[in-house]
Amino acid sequence: MMTKKSLIQSPEAIEKMRIAGKLASDVLVMLDQHVKVGVSTEALNQIAHDYIVNEQGAIPAPLNYHGFPKSICTSVNHVVCHGIPSESKLLKDGDIINIDVTVIKDGYYGDTSKMWVVGNGSIMAERICKVAQDALYAGMKVVKDGARLGDIGAAIQEVVEPERFSIVREFCGHGISDEFHHEPQVMHYGKKGTGFELKTGMTFTIEPMINQGVWQTKILGDGWTAITKDRKLSAQWEHTLVVTDNGCEVFTTRPEEDLSFLTQ
Ligand code: MF3
Ligand code: CO
Ligand code: CO
Repeated sequence: MMTKKSLIQSPEAIEKMRIAGKLASDVLVMLDQHVKVGVSTEALNQIAHDYIVNEQGAIPAPLNYHGFPKSICTSVNHVVCHGIPSESKLLKDGDIINIDVTVIKDGYYGDTSKMWVVGNGSIMAERICKVAQDALYAGMKVVKDGARLGDIGAAIQEVVEPERFSIVREFCGHGISDEFHHEPQVMHYGKKGTGFELKTGMTFTIEPMINQGVWQTKILGDGWTAITKDRKLSAQWEHTLVVTDNGCEVFTTRPEEDLSFLTQ
């Protein structure tokens, strides 16, 4: 791996990421009222696209990224990630959906995703969504200057494995700044005290994908949609953050979230 430039961001870059992160989280908040039984994932894509471009004056990063055809990713039920919005995919009662939003503002990226349970979900649907969010939070909690990437992965494993869910191996979090994806690769499993050392000013995502059954995935013929091999449920939540001396600052926090655990 070649490091082209420092992974430590300047105060000016961090301020731009604060703004991009806030815009990305605003899109998820705005989408809340539209995620309901009967809506198509393409309608959600169109609403998000128009909001990002016309209201935010920002750019939807997924659109044309390595050929991705839409402005957001919509991943329903057994779709792990990178689901392509479609007019024929209508949300139905009990579905779970991840919407993943990435915006570019003033050259910098904000990347975040969350789950919804549509209408009345099963206990399993509710539980896998909750555990995936707890897994993200457990990973965020161990971030600080001097911590190692293995600490994040281990913290996520400690939450997920006792619940008998599995952790997807093929996709990981990533460094993010004025590029969508760069070093380091943030694995969602690992060993405490091992791996790349985090430093104040590094910016990256944590985005654990957890499965009801086996961790293995496969990619559909469209070249993007990743599904669970056994077609059981999958859930994911994502935040973008910066490492600080004592913890982290999350750029993509939504108002409904209580992240006070980060400072305790
Ligand atoms: N937002 C995704 C991530 O968390 C990446 C989507 S790439 C796309 O890294 F091309 F599928 F949009
Ligand atoms: Co990401
Ligand atoms: Co994302």
